[in-house]
Amino acid sequence: MLIDTYGRVATDLRVSLTDRCNLRCTYCMPEEGLQWLAKPDLLTDDEIVRLIRIAVTRLGIEEVRFTGGEPLLRPGLVGIVERCAALEPRPKMSLTTNGIGLKRTAKALKEAGLDRVNVSLDTLRPDVFKTLTRRDRHRDVLEGLEAAREAGLTPVKVNSVLMPGLNDDEAPDLLAWAVENDYELRFIEQMPLDAQHGWKRDGMITAGDILTSLRTRFTLTEEGSEKRGSAPAERWVVDGGPHRVGVIASVTRPFCSACDRTRLTADGQVRTCLFASEETDLRAALRAESSDDEEIARIWKLAMWGKKAGSGLDDPSFLQPDRPMSAIGG
Ligand code: GTP
Ligand code: 5AD
Ligand code: SF4
Repeated sequence: MLIDTYGRVATDLRVSLTDRCNLRCTYCMPEEGLQWLAKPDLLTDDEIVRLIRIAVTRLGIEEVRFTGGEPLLRPGLVGIVERCAALEPRPKMSLTTNGIGLKRTAKALKEAGLDRVNVSLDTLRPDVFKTLTRRDRHRDVLEGLEAAREAGLTPVKVNSVLMPGLNDDEAPDLLAWAVENDYELRFIEQMPLDAQHGWKRDGMITAGDILTSLRTRFTLTEEGSEKRGSAPAERWVVDGGPHRVGVIASVTRPFCSACDRTRLTADGQVRTCLFASEETDLRAALRAESSDDEEIARIWKLAMWGKKAGSGLDDPSFLQPDRPMSAIGG
């Protein structure tokens, strides 16, 4: 079991499959991209499956989420999913993606055993999409979303980040569109995880702003807190149901006390939190001559023991982590 000193138990593993991406969202990375990890530093498909096997069979992990960067850029993704689906006990599996390429792969991913997907889409306007992501791929994302729904990778969730002056007027339109298309929409507060370190607390759109904007067009009723569990999204029932809308308010309403996560970067480092200042090297243990599963499980447990109480975002001495979100895993 992966337990920390505050008694939280991690049952949810987030695995970053690559730090690369085919978009350049302004709140994430600069136009020119980043210094990508070198191939030999990345875990191989075999190493990833081995770590997931250890997590599932020895450490109590029940759910695995594949992230990035953009996980669909990982050539071996379908194979990794297939091999994880054969594990005993079989973990629940999901994918967080920008949706580009999902049209091509949704069916194969479902057949390999993936349960569901979360797709990032911040705007319904192609021109705003191009400004926000610096790429003209709006249509690819919409097609990817449809393909996911048709393949049964459901519920399909959509993640939207609102940026002042760009898409902050779109919350009600996004919700109307999500309800119509049967996607579960969640708004995410922008977090200080951009490579450029340009985040400003005063400049961000808060959960409060988002709810005020949505209530100009919809009646929202809070869903009981017993339904939330450890999920980062708080949810509201839209116009009496059955649709829901979520807000992930990591900055203004942190949910760290219920966190059930452990993370693995694409280069094999355990992170106890998105905002952790330290990482623990599992890759070295994997590649050591004497490498054995029990030892790797022991190192992982020890790493989680060092998990801090919270992100520290509300502390005036907060320091943004060295690695940006694309390298940590979203
Ligand atoms: P499901 O609700 O189970 O689908 O998962 P999820 O919401 O955790 O998944 P997703 O990958 O779509 O994450 C959505 C957003 O939640 C991320 O972009 C982050 O903004 C936020 N998030 C995910 N994990 C963490 C975390 O450990 N800490 C904080 N503060 N935010 C997180
Ligand atoms: N703050 C909040 N959300 C972010 N994402 C990427 N960078 C940030 C940030 N700095 C979102 C993406 C995607 C999810 C994995 O994280 O839009 O939906
Ligand atoms: Fe790519 Fe996601 Fe970063 Fe956008 S937020 S550049 S889609 S990794």
